[in-house]
This record gives sequence, structure tokens and C-alpha cells, in this order.
Amino acid sequence: MRIDRQKLKTIKRALILGRRAAPGEVWLLLILSLLLGVAPIVILYIGKIVIDEVTRLAGGQTEGLLAHLGSLLPPAILAFVALIFIMDTVETVRGLQIDNFRDRAGGEARRQLLAKVAGFEDISIFENPEALNTLQLAEKGVDHFWRLVTAIGRMLIGLFAFVPAFVLTAAIAWWVPLVLFLTALPAVIVVGSVEEFSWDVEQSQAENVRYMKLYERILLTEIYAKEVRLFRLPDFFLGHWNSRFRTMFRAMKAARSRGTWMIVGWSVIGALGAAVPYVFVIDGALRGVYTLGDLALFAGLIFQVRRSLELMIFEGGDMYQAVQGVGPFFAVLDMESELSSEPVPPDSMGSTTAGIRFSHVSFSYPGSDRAVLEGIYLTIKPGETIALVGENGAGKTTLTKLLCRLYDPNQGEITWDGKDIRSLDIDQLRDRIAVVCQDYAHFPVTARENIGFGDLSKMDQDATLLTMAREAGLDKAVEQLPAGLDTPLGTMLEGGTDLSGGEWQRLAIARALLRTPKAQLMILDEPTAAVDPQSEHEVLETLRRLARGRMALIVTHRMPLARSADRIFVLQSGRIVEEGSHKDLMASKAVYYTMFTRQASSYL
Ligand SMILES: Nc1ncnc2c1ncn2[C@@H]1O[C@H](COP(=O)(O)OP(=O)(O)OP(=O)(O)O)[C@@H](O)[C@H]1O
Ligand SMILES: [Mg+2]
Repeated sequence: MRIDRQKLKTIKRALILGRRAAPGEVWLLLILSLLLGVAPIVILYIGKIVIDEVTRLAGGQTEGLLAHLGSLLPPAILAFVALIFIMDTVETVRGLQIDNFRDRAGGEARRQLLAKVAGFEDISIFENPEALNTLQLAEKGVDHFWRLVTAIGRMLIGLFAFVPAFVLTAAIAWWVPLVLFLTALPAVIVVGSVEEFSWDVEQSQAENVRYMKLYERILLTEIYAKEVRLFRLPDFFLGHWNSRFRTMFRAMKAARSRGTWMIVGWSVIGALGAAVPYVFVIDGALRGVYTLGDLALFAGLIFQVRRSLELMIFEGGDMYQAVQGVGPFFAVLDMESELSSEPVPPDSMGSTTAGIRFSHVSFSYPGSDRAVLEGIYLTIKPGETIALVGENGAGKTTLTKLLCRLYDPNQGEITWDGKDIRSLDIDQLRDRIAVVCQDYAHFPVTARENIGFGDLSKMDQDATLLTMAREAGLDKAVEQLPAGLDTPLGTMLEGGTDLSGGEWQRLAIARALLRTPKAQLMILDEPTAAVDPQSEHEVLETLRRLARGRMALIVTHRMPLARSADRIFVLQSGRIVEEGSHKDLMASKAVYYTMFTRQASSYL
């Protein structure tokens, strides 16, 4: 067990977070801990008074308690009853306060984690297994966080019980507290190392736990439900889950049993440490050095010192484990986005005058050496619509992701009106882009919200939202929804319904359209892949109309859509191999020509 500066800092941060999130609970718990710690010692002392008083009064007489109402016995009994009552009440209230603390402080910690991860401008944390493992540990870290604070609370109970009992044992003999303390020390080391290797196991199992969660998601969520059944995959995923679970459980069990044996071994020393002063006190009582009350008090104190030491050691171990467990939580809170954004004055982006330029842009995904884009030169002039064509995996979507700054290029630069987009405010940049992603989201919220996400300020403007729905060819579908715009979309929602594949794509289009008045660039990645050919024409007309006067980048496999662009770029294995208008490219009879004629002939 090593408590270094890092861990002390973590403890401090956890305490500060706990106190800020639930100040009332923290103070109350502190006071209750003090009461719970000290009460048993007072009870022991009352016990001593009662025994001594009874021994004194009982000598050779036969009268009961009623004859001795003037003695110390009645107040002692009253104090005893009051203390028992207080302890029981305090224990119950403390339990409730711990639950409150867990909910409030744990909730606040989880909120901070959610806000942090959602606030990352890039998405690399979701694509990097190592970062995902840390995220998985950070999620568990939220529980460790409140465990840490409650363990500290219980350690305090131990401490409050320990200090008076420890001091009082010196009344037996000066060496008694020393023996009790020294024989408890080995347990500290053992508990520390037990916690150390349980943490090693927890860390080494983070990946297994994450995979188990992944399989659980496949088995328990709607998006996989159909194919899991149609391809009869439950056993496959259950099998994988099971084998990960078994590996994890074996490792945890081994760590636990190793720990148990070590603790049992060292407890022998602790027991001997308690036995020596105990025998000493019994001997003293027989010789008449101590009264019977002293015997009861001292025996109780020895037991109390042991119990509170144990409490502190085990809670200390728990705290130690929790400190390690909470580490990844703070590590995620401290994570920085891989994108750098220098703060800029709010009006630094005006209306576009010089357009967008990719100069010598190369890119490979984090953690991979393969260049997905290489030496890209590409321009979009103000008011121009360009099309990007190329086979699957050519890098088209990747290029759009760079433009939205979900990633930054490894080489080269992308400029907007001559300014490197890395130097622009990322929110302003994204406000200027209306995008229909290739894998657009099916947000499980209402139709209103699904469209309104395009521009949150227009969420309540029914007429505008309905116009966008109409432009995207979604008006009929919205009319048929039981509660119109306010119908929840997604069958897992109360009163929810689902849309067809093409309707979801139109919804994504409507969402992007809502942004167009502000947006100066439209990025459409396969915007009509799921739309039926009969109505594709109308949707394309709308998109073309809206693209007019602003810049548009259309990624498509549909040649008629590419054809209507001002200029076409052909991407092959991450490089631009051809560029020009439809007419030019047809005339040069190369890659585009082949793609175009092949697609046209397949319709004949
Ligand atoms: N997040 C990612 N991490 C690592 N590699 C990726 C990632 N996304 C895509 N790739 C790889 O980058 C290459 C280009 O992918 P991209 O999605 O840009 O292709 P595309 O041209 O849009 O293809 P499609 O026509 O199928 O949509 C692919 O080979 C793919 O394997
Ligand atoms: Mg793509």
C-alpha cells in the first residue's frame, strides 16, 4: 500500500466534490459519526459504574433496586437507556443520510462525467479501445467515488471510538495501548496489499467488462434485435459473454481468496495482541488490584480498541481501493480533446467570401498508420456545389469529417476564407455547416425534436418545422403520426411509433434544412440513399435549390446527382484522381466516364 501525493490529491478532490455536491449530508454524517464513535465508550463506562455500585451495595443484604433509589444506579440506568436510544436513532438516520449522499454526490459525479464526455469536440474517445477502457473504469469510478467518501466517514467512526478507548487503556498499564497498536499494524500492510492486487485485477479486467457490456447491448437493444433473431445469434453472443464473464470471475475469485488467507493469517497476531492485556487484567482483578467494574471496563476497552482499529484498517483498505477506483473518473474529467481550438472573438467568421480549400491534406485515423486520405487538394468556391464520388472506402466520408473538425488532418491544412479551420471557434464553424450524415442518427425523441435539433431556437415554430418536413418530403408521414410533430419516435418510448428507413433519412434531411438559413456550407453524405427513386427527384430538387447561393459538398454514388454539381471530384483509395465538370470528365473518358456509363447501362 502506497499513499503517494497523487492519491492524496485524489482523496482531496473526492472530498471537495462530495462536500460541494451534498454539503448538508456531509456535515450531518460527520456529527453522527462522532456520536456513534464515542457512544460505546460511554456505555462501557456506565457499565463499570453499575458493576462497582452493585458490588458495593449487594454486600450481605437482600433488598432490590427500589431500596437504593438514592444510589448511582438509577441515573446510570437512565443514561444507559438514553444512549442505546441515541445509538439506534443515529444509526438509522446515518443510513438514510448515506443513501442521500450516495444519490446526490454520486448523481453529481455522473453528471460531471456525462457533461465532460459529451463536451468533447471530437469523437476519438469512442474509437480508441484504451480510452474506452478508461471510460469504462471511470463509469465504475462514480461508485468508487461515493464509496470513498463513505469509507472515510466510517474510518472517522473508528477514529472517534479509538482515541478515547486507546487513551483509557493506558490506565491498565502504559504498555497496553502499545501492544494493541503494534500487533494491529501487520494487518494494515496485509489489507493494503490485498487491495492493491484486487485493483490490479479490476484494471486488467476492464476490457472483459467492456466486451461483456457490448454483448449485453447487442442482446438487449432494439437496433440489433431483428438480426440477432433472424440469424439466430443469441447463443453466439451469450457464449462470448459467458466466456468473458468466467475469465473475469476466475481472476476476481483468485484475488479474493488470496486476500482472505493472508488476512486470516495475520489476524492470529492481532488476537494474541489482545490476549496479553486481557490476561493481565484478569490477573489484576484476582489479586484485588482492580474492581469487578474495572475488569468489565478494561476488557471492554481492549475489545473496543481492537474493533475500532479493525474498522479503521478495513475501511482504510476500502478507501485505498476506492481511491484507485476513482482515479480513472478524475482522469476522464482531466482529459483534453485532441482537437485544439484557440479562443477567438465571436464575430471572427463573417459571410463566406473566398470559400474552402484543402491543401495537401493527409489523414490516418488515430491508432492506425494507414493513410485514408493523401495529398488532397480541393476547393469549394462560394456558391458552388461540388460532388465527391468514388467507391466504398475511398475516403469520402472521412473527408467530410475533417471539414466538420471531428478530426484534424495529420498533414496539410483546410482553410475557410483563408483561415485555417483549426484557428476558428469550433462552435461557430459547426453552426455554419448543415450536414446530413451517412449514418444519420435516429434520435429516440419526438418528431419535433428530431427536426428541431437542426436549430434549437426554432424548436417551437411549428410552421417552420412543418415547412422543412414538407421540403424533405415528410409532410404526409408527419400528418399520419398520431400526435403530429409531438409524436415520440422510437418504439421504446411511451406512445412512440417508428418510421420507415427512408422516412428517417428524410427526417435527417429536414433537420439539416432547418439549419440552412444560417449555414453557409451543406454537406450531404449519400442524402438520398434510402429515399425511393420516385420521390428522390423532388428531394434532390429541394436540396439543389437550397444549395444555391451557399457552398455544398455532396457525396454520392448516384451519378445523376453528381452530374448536377458544378464540379466533380473522383476519389480513389484516398487520392483525388480526377476533377472537373460533368462535361469535361465525360470527355476525358477516364474513371468518372466509366462509373457514369456503367451505372447508366445498368438501368437499361
Ligand atoms: N473511425 C474509423 N477508424 C478507423 N478507420 C476508419 C474509420 N472510419 C473509416 N475508416 C476507414 O477509412 C477508410 C475510408 O472510409 P470512409 O468512410 O471515408 O469511406 P467512404 O468513401 O465514405 O465509403 P462509402 O462509400 O462506403 O461510404 C475505410 O477504409 C475505412 O476502413
Ligand atoms: Mg461514406
